[in-house]
Amino acid sequence: MTERHVIWFDGYVKREERNKKYGHKSGVVWLTGLSASGKSTIAHHLERRLFEEGIKVYAFDGDNIRHGLNSDLGFSPEDRRENLRRIAEVARLFVDAGLIVLAAFVSPYKKDREFVKSKFSPEEFVEVYVKCPPEVCEMRDPKGLYKKARKGLIKGYTGVDAPYEEPENPDVVIDTTKLSVYEAVDELYAYLKQVKKWF
Ligand code: ADX
Repeated sequence: MTERHVIWFDGYVKREERNKKYGHKSGVVWLTGLSASGKSTIAHHLERRLFEEGIKVYAFDGDNIRHGLNSDLGFSPEDRRENLRRIAEVARLFVDAGLIVLAAFVSPYKKDREFVKSKFSPEEFVEVYVKCPPEVCEMRDPKGLYKKARKGLIKGYTGVDAPYEEPENPDVVIDTTKLSVYEAVDELYAYLKQVKKWF
């Protein structure tokens, strides 16, 4: 790589000051799971709950980020890796800005999730496996994408003709065939408060 002559500038407002002023710590809750497993729904409900309590929080998911920042990327393993690399970098900025980030991405490959995790300290990162059997996700199919993938109209769809590598050691497992969205939100809320002590 050619030398780029860029030098990091440490802002005058420190993250610790932001955390103190905002009254909570900042960090990333990374939700991984199949499409239609319930990741985004849980993230957006948890966002609402935290927001109502005055916590600085922002949720993002694949469908939204892929409309803008990552609209140039597809779903090959390389593009998924780049998708997640950019998300991780954006999340780092948000964490530095004092926010709690709720990131809901299929993130099907173990090595990509490990890369994301490596960008954060253990205190500021939570991996949540939103677990739901592929058959159930396919039956839910709220966007009709599984159906399209079965017809061969989408190639490389996770859970159909592209793999999902299950997390081996997630911090939290949310089984959405057993928990309602509200129960899932309660469980994550309690984890962030009692185990992580973020607020
Ligand atoms: S990731 O694999 O790179 O983490 P991401 O979470 O950003 O995926 O995007 C997943 C969303 O994109 C799915 O919820 C679905 O709506 C849509 N999508 C379109 N094509 C695919 C595909 N081939 N595999 C998985 N999801 C897809």
